[in-house]
Amino acid sequence: MVTASAPGKLYLFGEHAVVYGEPAVAAAIDRRATVTVEARDDDHLRVDSEDLTLDGFTVEYGRAAEEDPDVDVSESLIEAATGYVDAAVEQARDAADAPEAGFDVTIESEIPLGAGLSSSAAVTVAAIYAATRELGVELTPGEVAERAYRVEYEVQEGNASRTDTFCSATGGAVRVEGEDRESLDAPELPLVVGFDGGAGDTGALVAGVRDLKDTYDFAADTVDVVGDLARRGEEVLLDGDLEELGDLMDFNHGLLSALGVSSRSLDAMVWAARDAGALGAKLTGAGGGGCVVALDETEETETALRYLPGCEEVFRAALDTEGVRIE
Ligand code: MEV
Repeated sequence: MVTASAPGKLYLFGEHAVVYGEPAVAAAIDRRATVTVEARDDDHLRVDSEDLTLDGFTVEYGRAAEEDPDVDVSESLIEAATGYVDAAVEQARDAADAPEAGFDVTIESEIPLGAGLSSSAAVTVAAIYAATRELGVELTPGEVAERAYRVEYEVQEGNASRTDTFCSATGGAVRVEGEDRESLDAPELPLVVGFDGGAGDTGALVAGVRDLKDTYDFAADTVDVVGDLARRGEEVLLDGDLEELGDLMDFNHGLLSALGVSSRSLDAMVWAARDAGALGAKLTGAGGGGCVVALDETEETETALRYLPGCEEVFRAALDTEGVRIE
């Protein structure tokens, strides 16, 4: 039996534009997904999750396509349970050259699902790392990141950048631009995360931006400007200039809003943070609902978000310099 964990992450700059080859800057945070994997005698998968939903669930199913999952939960839960884990296990089987391997998989996660903090990447990275170790194969974080990216690409039907999986596998702050991936020597940041309790549909949001970009030159220009902002944001991050970092985050939120991926609750949390004196605030991830990230050294943003109707959870997040690890 092997247990591995991997961190969630947030985007400081560049979500959506990164899908079109622009740079993005992201930071792993100290909220992790933990996956325990134990090899079985047969080729079945049993997926057990306490935390991915409020109620938790258990799914057991065979490898043959005609074998239905043995569950009494909704279709979307089955997909949530099986989509990423199934593809992650397939990657582990491939890496270990063990196509018939079956596993009991248990998932615990501190990262809200689909909320812009890369819960799926963290689960996928931890699952590949644990399952390959269980089969006696030791992958580097880079190899895990690459295999996890293939999983996200497949499950999200091509709507995935390498940011989430690379950041989760390596930890720390990262810059991603197309195929290039680089770890950044970032300072500690006073990050505050607000969560509206909801989740956006990443595929639909990415498709919406793609449509806008294909329809209007000014939308395509907006995507390019998000890339320019990420380039400047990276310099400012490395300089540790929090004031300018906050200004650029505000700017990035405005551009994401123009591209149609913000929401009333995300805007409300961003404005509450700004009114409370945050240095900057923006949505993180695909948008449509989920989380915002604000920069504030004081307690003011946390307090303001805690009392904001529509904000379900607030927490301070620290940069997590440790990527995927064995527990
Ligand atoms: C979703 O977490 C962020 C997007 O940029 C997609 C991706 O980078 O994979 C919208």
